[in-house]
Amino acid sequence: MVKIGSIINGRERLDEGRETLDVLNPYNQEKIAGVKLATKSDLNEAIENSYEKFHHDMKAMPAHERADILRKTADLLIERSEEFAEVISKEAGKPIKYSRGEVERAMQVLRFASEGAKHITGEVIPMDAAIGGQHRMGFVKREPLGVVGAITPFNFPLNLSLHKLAPAIAAGNTVVFKPAEKTPVSAYMLVKLFEEAGLPAGFINLVIGSGEEVGAPLVEHDKVHKISFTGSLPVGKNIMENAGFKKVTLELGSNSPNIVFNDADLEQATTELVKGAFAFSGQVCISAQRIYVQNDVYDEFLSNYVQKTEVLQIGDPIKEDTDIGPMINEDEAKRAKQWIDDAVQNGAEVKVGGERESTILMPTIMTNVKKNMKIIAEEVFAPIVSVIPFHTEEEAVQRSNDSIYGLQAGVFTKDINRAMRVADRLEMGGVWINEISTYRQDNHPYGGVKQSGVGREGVKYAIEDMTEMKFIGMKIDQG
Ligand code: SIN
Repeated sequence: MVKIGSIINGRERLDEGRETLDVLNPYNQEKIAGVKLATKSDLNEAIENSYEKFHHDMKAMPAHERADILRKTADLLIERSEEFAEVISKEAGKPIKYSRGEVERAMQVLRFASEGAKHITGEVIPMDAAIGGQHRMGFVKREPLGVVGAITPFNFPLNLSLHKLAPAIAAGNTVVFKPAEKTPVSAYMLVKLFEEAGLPAGFINLVIGSGEEVGAPLVEHDKVHKISFTGSLPVGKNIMENAGFKKVTLELGSNSPNIVFNDADLEQATTELVKGAFAFSGQVCISAQRIYVQNDVYDEFLSNYVQKTEVLQIGDPIKEDTDIGPMINEDEAKRAKQWIDDAVQNGAEVKVGGERESTILMPTIMTNVKKNMKIIAEEVFAPIVSVIPFHTEEEAVQRSNDSIYGLQAGVFTKDINRAMRVADRLEMGGVWINEISTYRQDNHPYGGVKQSGVGREGVKYAIEDMTEMKFIGMKIDQG
């Protein structure tokens, strides 16, 4: 079993006195690593070091060097892609085909960031547009913020980490990186990869520890200038309350709606929505959780959808043909099963699935659901999807918007005018037409409205958000 620890200023913290946390494969409970956990004093050291490194070293590093390091990290990741994919499958329980997809996306995030580092531009201000502004010139530069605190989740342990680390480095910041405790191995390997690609010690300090011991103090620390967090709504609210004057980006949850109109290509919609609801056991913030289907195609949609779900292969995530693996742990699987049982007690029907075996929850399709049931009102983060009939466009939009969340939605129709009308009216950070809510590319703006979050990721947008504007003006002597 490998032993790993936090890496601060290039030195790994593995001393014996520390508490050890076992990282378990959620499929078979095999121990895959032992982590020597960081303490609050390690965190303080990491922040002080990152602060120092920002002021003395990172500020002196030109954009082309940052771009080179990011590109080299991408190249190294490609060489080791299978090793990373296997680790993700083992520590997160993600089916290997999805882990490979995650690694490929991560490589692209690094390449987008490498390109982005060279295109951080400002603006020339038309000073004479203001009365009395003649004979002045003014422009805006974008400067790095300083120390970025990156707090990342278990569900895309590599790619969602890179959505914070790569833009932060591209923009010229240093980073204190706190990965999810359940999936620290890929995070550790990633920091090593950056080091191998030439990133100086301390530019990314890795601190593996609990939310209480290192997460909360990271959020509160005055020498941290921004917190970028992906995770749950309660933790997001807590960060908002405690971050003080820092910039904050929060990527929180959702109960994503997908609307299927009667003119949609049902074969395409059902095929894609099986992936959309069940990929990585629904543990994706934009997973298809509510499917609204127009009443005249509802029966056809449902029977087709059930058939395609019944043939999914369930089992060991490391096997090539596995579609559905475990959830992250048994508590989560039990919690989700309880939500199904509560809904059934209140009149909902299980069309397929509904059973739990250890950490595996079978892919579950529910019907006859009511608006206040947890399985549609809250973020389910499990392989559970509800199929709900609707009559009119108005009703589909109203029901989709009837949520505290607004991250991404999918709309299936061949009518371009309807597609655009509905996209305009959906209260979401993003809307896909003829694509599932679960689809994300790493170069478009990604983030939510309402309680789905604050700010946007997507490399270009994150780079911008990890800089601050500085205005420089000059009065020109007319001689
Ligand atoms: C998320 O779960 O927030 C991210 C989804 C993705 O990057 O595909």
